[in-house]
Amino acid sequence: MTRITALILLLLLAAPAWSAPDGEQLYTRHCSVCHNDKGMGGIGLPLSGEKLEHFSRDYIFKTIRNGRPGRVMPPFVKLSDAQVDAIVDYIMSWRKTPPQNWPDTPVKGDPANGERLFKEKCAACHGEDGKSNGLGTGVTLSRERKFKVVPPALNNIGFLRSAKDSWIRYTIRNGRPGTIMPSQKDFGISDSELNDLVSYIRQFEQKHNEKPKPEQEPPTLVFDSPYDFVTTVTNLKETLKGLNFRYFPDRYMEMGLAPDDQINKKQLSLRFCNFNLLYKMINIEPRMGVILPCRVTVVEEKDGSVKLYLMNMKVATQLFNNEQLSELAQQMHDSLMELIEEATL
Ligand code: HEC
Ligand code: HEC
Repeated sequence: MTRITALILLLLLAAPAWSAPDGEQLYTRHCSVCHNDKGMGGIGLPLSGEKLEHFSRDYIFKTIRNGRPGRVMPPFVKLSDAQVDAIVDYIMSWRKTPPQNWPDTPVKGDPANGERLFKEKCAACHGEDGKSNGLGTGVTLSRERKFKVVPPALNNIGFLRSAKDSWIRYTIRNGRPGTIMPSQKDFGISDSELNDLVSYIRQFEQKHNEKPKPEQEPPTLVFDSPYDFVTTVTNLKETLKGLNFRYFPDRYMEMGLAPDDQINKKQLSLRFCNFNLLYKMINIEPRMGVILPCRVTVVEEKDGSVKLYLMNMKVATQLFNNEQLSELAQQMHDSLMELIEEATL
């Protein structure tokens, strides 16, 4: 073997180790601001528990690519396939059972009868035309809301492009255990009625022909801190006081997920609020209440570096398509940038 071939061989062998994306890290960076640690749910629906056992890789992969335009979740178009795969693997690792695949065969039914059934059984939660009745998205964090877990929009192009008929049918038949979404099986729904409902939901798709818009900016902003973990947290708190933000008691990311003495104390969420801007925003768009108060998550990474994760307010509010709201979001964004700049100076 020549020295050159030996070198090439070595490179080939070593390459996967250098380039394999880290799913957990990518999840923390791109998803956890909305879906929380381990998919507990927040602004985004929970990605855990019984329902995850019935998610296919394909559904999660496509949901990441398509997003839920108009329902806060952006399409992630800049991630590579390998990166999206790594995120899917990470989410799938929370399951207890091996992944399954849902058949591709389209369901055939009578959409007119489906519409009748939908109005009777589903519209109270999922809204007339499937646009969802619950103000907001995801789970209730602090404010009183009509629903504890807000029913997702079923006329959403991101949902329709990601979900297979067979899986939608399964979801309607079995409901979402642990949530208010009932199982229709308990009400004695027939197979043909299930098909009618699926074909009615499928029809929503014809009303959309626009492609999902690629995100202009990343939904999560990431900053490096030049300081160690404790100093970074102390700096942030002092700066918050200086900038007249109110902040709430500390929360470790894993609180409630692990026994208290095993909590990772190197992941801290600082929650804070500018009440003036908050009230203005909620007046325009009550759904903003789940995004605010704001949150900065400080994480000490495995390599010892300290990073700050923050939701990009501009992206989150763009999705509501409201100019006044976007202006306020810009103000909020500017004060958040001031905060980060001062705290990491
Ligand atoms: C800015 C907030 C936000 C971000 C960032 C986000 N999501 Fe979402 N996600 C949501 C919301 C909100 C929904 C539910 C939409 C609705 O209510 O109609 C959702 C829905 C989902 C669903 C469907 C859940 C179900 O029950 O069918 C999956 C899967 C998902 N997101 C995965 C991800 C992954 C993986 C990432 C990171 C790559 C991510 N999301 C990033 C807000 C977000
Ligand atoms: C009492 C309220 C309620 C009713 C009634 C209800 N749902 Fe739901 N539905 C929900 C909630 C809440 C969720 C999300 C639960 C979760 O994943 O945490 C959901 C989730 C779904 C999903 C999965 C969507 C996604 O993004 O993953 C489908 C499909 C669905 N419902 C269809 C229906 C249909 C069809 C009916 C009528 C036969 C119906 N639901 C009746 C509340 C309801």
